[in-house]
Amino acid sequence: MRDFTFNNPTKYVLGVDSVRGSLGKELKNHGFSKPMLHFGSGSIKANGAYDDVVGSLQEAGIEWVEAGGQKPNPRVEICRECIKQYKAEGCDVIVAVGGGSIVDSAKCIAVGVNLEEGEDVWGVWAGTTTATSGAPIFVVLTLSATASEMNNGAVITNMALKQKYAYGDSFNMPVVSFVDPKYQVTLPKWQTVNGAVDTITHLTEFAFMAASATAKDGLPNTSLHMIEALIKSQIENCDALLEDPTNIARRADFAWAATCGLNQMTDCMLGGGDWCVHMLEHAMSAVSFNLSHGAGLGVVLPGYLRFCDKVAKGEVTRPEGRPQPECLKEFLARYCKNVFGADSVEDAITAWKAILARWGHPTNMSEIFAVYDDIKDTNMDETLDQMTDITVGRGFTGQLLFPCKEEVR
Ligand code: NZQ
Ligand code: ZN
Repeated sequence: MRDFTFNNPTKYVLGVDSVRGSLGKELKNHGFSKPMLHFGSGSIKANGAYDDVVGSLQEAGIEWVEAGGQKPNPRVEICRECIKQYKAEGCDVIVAVGGGSIVDSAKCIAVGVNLEEGEDVWGVWAGTTTATSGAPIFVVLTLSATASEMNNGAVITNMALKQKYAYGDSFNMPVVSFVDPKYQVTLPKWQTVNGAVDTITHLTEFAFMAASATAKDGLPNTSLHMIEALIKSQIENCDALLEDPTNIARRADFAWAATCGLNQMTDCMLGGGDWCVHMLEHAMSAVSFNLSHGAGLGVVLPGYLRFCDKVAKGEVTRPEGRPQPECLKEFLARYCKNVFGADSVEDAITAWKAILARWGHPTNMSEIFAVYDDIKDTNMDETLDQMTDITVGRGFTGQLLFPCKEEVR
């Protein structure tokens, strides 16, 4: 068994019309008086979130500052501008209104405003600067996928360096997160699919760490049952939402499953996640920065499953603390059966690709290359090589050698 401490301090509010009545009051109750509203390219003006947020602030008599324009796969270059603005305007809290990119960006800004003068926030993500605190963050979520609304992680891209790195610390947990499922009715179908793929991959990466336990302890049943249930639930929710995108009850269920996918509850007893699939996707979108997170994850997952199968068969070794052959055999059989109803890794991969195809999602890199304009002209081998280099460069040597390029291709 593994000991653990579970402490998630974020107040999580899920409900239709929850923002309008409560955001302003919550900010006041916490003593905040000058929020910086942070958002992206304008989807919040079409989905109703912006009107609810400013309406709630007006009703509470709170004035605000606006900082929009952040991009998906949020850019440190834009965060730096927002950090300057936050300080110049004397803000005391950030209200992030958008999807995971906006919440992550808010976390980067929050860290940046508390650094010493002259320190660059990218240093915190690159591991060369230490942060000890962050400004407070409130979240109004409009896209459920990353669970950034209830965790401390933030993934930031440096366009100049073509790097995409994750960083997180306890002071970056949002204070309050509002999840109103009605905002998500405007999501394009493929964004709903991306969210489902992201949740499923988070849960899978946690689940595989069960196989790093010593065999004599057995598999951690409660955590694995939770994970299996959440994955199945998200597959059902995504199917239902592709049929009827306006189903608010399903949107709410989807949102809660996505949050539980990475709000630190599901990794209790598992000791964190394996994160191989995520490291590879981060490397991919660092090179091809318009690529959506879920699209990259979906095509890497089969390669990861085959990689784990090789480890289980003793063909590839991994360091201690990562999934090991003796536990992986039992775990893989359980995962394939309970998640995909499959009797082998090959059948599980086939089942996963069938789900992706049913959802209209790319099933391999070639299909991604056919869809995303900004990577059409990139050489696929070069991208695959860069994925290997970047992940190895970030200290994954020996853990993740990206042996499954052909699967991904
Ligand atoms: O530009 P805006 O206006 O914000 O539009 C967004 C964006 O174009 C749009 N959108 C958001 N809500 C909408 C909507 N469109 C219509 N209706 C709505 N209700 O959707 C597009 C994608 O949004 P984005 O925030 O980028 O998506 P997502 O939530 O999937 O976030 C992806 C980012 O999160 C990182 C990823 O690497 C990626 O950079 N991750 C963060 C994690 C974390 N903090 O814990 C973990 C994840 O594994 C992930 O790595
Ligand atoms: Zn993810």
